[in-house]
Amino acid sequence: MIRFTLNGTPVSIAAPPDRSLATILREDLGQTGSKIGCAIGRCGACMVLLDGQAMNGCLLMAWQVAGRQITTIEGIASHPAGAALLRGLTEENAFQCGYCAPGMVIALAGLLATTPAADAETIKAALTGNLCRCTGYHSILRGALRAVA
Ligand code: FES
Repeated sequence: MIRFTLNGTPVSIAAPPDRSLATILREDLGQTGSKIGCAIGRCGACMVLLDGQAMNGCLLMAWQVAGRQITTIEGIASHPAGAALLRGLTEENAFQCGYCAPGMVIALAGLLATTPAADAETIKAALTGNLCRCTGYHSILRGALRAVA
């Protein structure tokens, strides 16, 4: 039995220790906001906050989240930077297809929790693990900058 906290709620689930958090979230817990793109840690679509730090859910195994705090996009509104990020990204029409959006928001929330006044270069560096095939990243950067302004 694996026990952890998901968006503030205790979760207890029977899962083999080598099953990925991304599949557990989507298939067992109905939390489909986190996407699975590459499943090998390259695209960032699966990102979650692990004790506040952005991590790829596809690379986190069940045993690694035991006793930890997980925040997904479903819980991001309760994050200190969540509301400002959602507002800023929406105001800039930051996303097109939206597949990368949850991972981008999680990566930015992880950054702003430790660097609330992040500049453009810092934001770009924080998003190096997040791929977007639609926007060219400019609108995402503008949206993130609105959140720190
Ligand atoms: Fe996890 Fe791509 S699905 S990094």
